[in-house]
Amino acid sequence: MTIHTGRDIHAADVTPEDASIERTSIYVYEAPLRVWHWVTAVTITVLVVTGFFIGTPLPSVPGEASDSALMGTIRFIHFTAGYVLAIAWLLRIYWAVVGNHHSRQLFKLPFWRRDYWGGVLWEASWYAFMRTEPKKYVGHNPLAQFVMFTVFTLGMFFMIITGFALYAEGTGLDSWQYWLFGWVFDIFPNSQSVHTWHHLGMWAFVIYTILHVYAAVREDIMSRQSMISTMISGERMFKDNRDD
Ligand code: HEM
Repeated sequence: MTIHTGRDIHAADVTPEDASIERTSIYVYEAPLRVWHWVTAVTITVLVVTGFFIGTPLPSVPGEASDSALMGTIRFIHFTAGYVLAIAWLLRIYWAVVGNHHSRQLFKLPFWRRDYWGGVLWEASWYAFMRTEPKKYVGHNPLAQFVMFTVFTLGMFFMIITGFALYAEGTGLDSWQYWLFGWVFDIFPNSQSVHTWHHLGMWAFVIYTILHVYAAVREDIMSRQSMISTMISGERMFKDNRDD
């Protein structure tokens, strides 16, 4: 049966009583960006768990010592995930150059635009439950952009640079890792200090992830536009009517 409601709906069980709802969808996140997002989500989870155990190793491991390389395995998984994170980040930077304009938002902070900061304050009051009607954005809202740039983007550079500097301590003075990242030890007073800051960075990422997931779920429900499915399909769907 076909119902004429402005658009033809071809469904076996549709009846004249079924209401049709008009939705507007905009294609925002292209496939490489979405793949990068989920690869990064998984690798950061692995890095946080393994990094936590590197910083707080198990007091003992049962069985014959020579039969087990538990901490070695944890470190190996950390380094592998570190490489995946860093290569994916390089590809993400490349995509910011060749992708659509939304792919560049993560790397930009419109610091000198007064209306941008007005938008940040407005969103802060929205997240604080002081507003009832959400503002809609095809990309990230100004507050999300601020947190993503200052915590995530700068944090990624910080974790990759300090991570590879620590790694270079193992690969040695004549390794490419030391050649590229050895300068980190000219800035920090010693290796322990790099460890401590790399470790603190982990907690920044843990807090960021909690807020990021909270905001995505909250906005999916409250802002009348899609969030989580947008990072799967790439499409932002706008729901306009309050009684939808
Ligand atoms: C979001 C990303 C990352 C997180 C959350 C993270 C977390 C951590 C943590 C918590 C530690 C323990 C620090 C300590 O207390 O001594 C650690 C150590 C380390 N991380 Fe990462 N890390 C990340 C990225 C990377 C990357 C990209 C690399 C590059 C390969 C890397 C390489 C290392 C190395 C070499 C160590 C020292 C291992 C040791 O001394 O046994 N990390 N990481």
